[in-house]
Amino acid sequence: MRLALLAGAAVLAAGCAAHADEGSAPAVSYTKDIVPLLESQCATCHLTGEEAGGMSLVGDAAIAYLVGKSAEEAPALMRVAAGDPDRSYLVMKLEGTHITHGGNGAQMPFGAPPLPAADIAKVRAWIAAGANP
Ligand code: HEC
Repeated sequence: MRLALLAGAAVLAAGCAAHADEGSAPAVSYTKDIVPLLESQCATCHLTGEEAGGMSLVGDAAIAYLVGKSAEEAPALMRVAAGDPDRSYLVMKLEGTHITHGGNGAQMPFGAPPLPAADIAKVRAWIAAGANP
């Protein structure tokens, strides 16, 4: 009986793994994927929210400065429009398309090479999935 249950669980687990493989990219976690990225690449300058840019990108505080908040440099745009990476100013600043969308200033991270495409893809995926905590 117990063995049969274990075998059943193994089949289920294998089924899930196969399903994950065939589907779209794995879900991006705010805490595990986005926070470490922002803290390592951005928070040295965007620390308290008082600096240029007007937002803290530290840990759990960042989401409140980003989601549904208008960009200082382009007030018609949200920094993060949940569900819509193409209309999120944060993504434009990372991809360097902010000027053509009516924005200002430099591509981010300021004074450094652009983020690797895989990291920008994570940010896009997080926003597309609803920009949840
Ligand atoms: C070396 C300092 C520095 C780093 C590192 C940095 N920024 Fe900035 N950021 C700035 C400055 C200065 C501004 C305002 C001037 C400008 O936009 O060029 C700014 C502005 C912004 C804005 C515009 C905010 C608004 O509401 O108008 C966004 C979005 C932004 N940064 C995101 C990021 C992200 C995401 C990272 C990490 C990938 C990052 N920054 C890394 C200095 C920095």
